[in-house]
Amino acid sequence: MADLAIIYDRIRPDEKMLFEALDAIGVAYDKVYAPQLTVTFDDAGRAAVPWKVALERCVSQSRGHAVTRALEGLGVRVVNPSHVIELCGDKLATNARLAAAGLPTPRTAVAFDGEAALALIEQMGYPVVIKPTVGSWGRMVSRVNDRDAAEAIIEHKEVLGGPQHQVFYIQELIRKPERDIRAFVVGGVCIGAIYRTSEHWITNTARGAKASNCPVTPEIETLALQAAAAVHGEIVAIDLVEDPQRGLLVIEINHTMEFKNSVSTTGVNIPRLMGEYALGLIG
Ligand SMILES: Nc1ncnc2c1ncn2[C@@H]1O[C@H](COP(=O)(O)OP(=O)(O)O)[C@@H](O)[C@H]1O
Ligand SMILES: [Mg+2]
Repeated sequence: MADLAIIYDRIRPDEKMLFEALDAIGVAYDKVYAPQLTVTFDDAGRAAVPWKVALERCVSQSRGHAVTRALEGLGVRVVNPSHVIELCGDKLATNARLAAAGLPTPRTAVAFDGEAALALIEQMGYPVVIKPTVGSWGRMVSRVNDRDAAEAIIEHKEVLGGPQHQVFYIQELIRKPERDIRAFVVGGVCIGAIYRTSEHWITNTARGAKASNCPVTPEIETLALQAAAAVHGEIVAIDLVEDPQRGLLVIEINHTMEFKNSVSTTGVNIPRLMGEYALGLIG
């Protein structure tokens, strides 16, 4: 029974690297498999949850969010906290917060009905990007070049999608170079960044983009830290695109960031810095 828990539901290479980093630091921690965790809100439940701090690493966002809320109910300090998951786990919530903070993003609009979405897209002009408000790895991020495509995507979302897909999140397509930038922020410090380069306009490494080191310029650092602060993110990865006219724009903020392709590329021991940040909260 340790002060620190790593909450996971699948051991990806990232979790392996995190465990190795904590082993190298030489600190005690519990590996907690979320699907087998139960939480009871009484004294016995509190006794069964000995951790002061937990790092939430679930692949399932809904599970990670629920576990975080439950542990917070027992006084565990979870990174990232549930209010951060609520903002970062939903692109609409993130964008609303970034807009309120005056930070640059692609021009973004939202509609709550298919007919209204089509009218909005026609007004914005093609091409646009439609993406689910909850999602990752570039899944269902869709480029819409004309009205035919817009009608098809909207109808598929209306007929096949659940309630979540009845929110139509629409962005202008940024004519970025064949890459985007992912900046890593841990505890208010921008610890490194990578370029994700691809011939495809969707530049997730999960979709085959290649990671390479991106020097952290003052512009990247400032925007990454401002974006992290806008959502109160403690350990987050900020996706940025380079707009030829406007410069850097924030695309999204990831609260359970993957970093396996970014350690050897940047030379930064990201999992160690994550572990040290969590240990610093134990106090
Ligand atoms: N408005 C946009 N203009 C140009 N490229 C975009 C835009 N939105 C997303 N992309 C590309 O698609 C990728 C995935 O989009 P993102 O919003 O980060 O969703 P996910 O959560 O699936 O990673 C981005 O990394 C970027 O390469
Ligand atoms: Mg992304």
